[in-house]
Amino acid sequence: MKEVDIELKVNGKTYQVRIKPWRTLVEVLREDLGLMGTKKSCNEGECGACTLMLDGRSAASCLVLAVDAQGRDILTIEGLSEGENLHPIQESFLKHGGLQCGFCTPGMVMSAKALLDENPTPTLEETRKAISGNLCRCTGYQHIIDSIMAACG
Ligand code: FES
Ligand code: FES
Repeated sequence: MKEVDIELKVNGKTYQVRIKPWRTLVEVLREDLGLMGTKKSCNEGECGACTLMLDGRSAASCLVLAVDAQGRDILTIEGLSEGENLHPIQESFLKHGGLQCGFCTPGMVMSAKALLDENPTPTLEETRKAISGNLCRCTGYQHIIDSIMAACG
């Protein structure tokens, strides 16, 4: 199939790429734009590793075609820190041991950001629900929950 020219707005910056129309957003971010922070694992919406924010809401980028992400605000983990300064949620993960191998961490942090943007003082239950689509094989989740709750201030 013919390639198409598309324009993506990622972390406030506009990128033009030529891609096959069936490629997913996570693939294009990683393979074409070099934004490797968004992870790809199950590739079928089950693990949450590829979570980012689309127009302010969390989304599994392995389920989104890159062509369909045109005209939308895409926020990836790379867009959270400012220079050397980590985002407060990232700081909280570091401080409270919310990561081990780190593979799930970008997706967890983006799910946490989507939660806290919408609900700055979530309950424990709301926090658990917000990351229920993000799998972690290392931490047992408690430290992740602690990190998010602590990031509420
Ligand atoms: S890689 Fe997208 S949900 Fe697993
Ligand atoms: S820290 Fe290893 S998968 Fe979550």
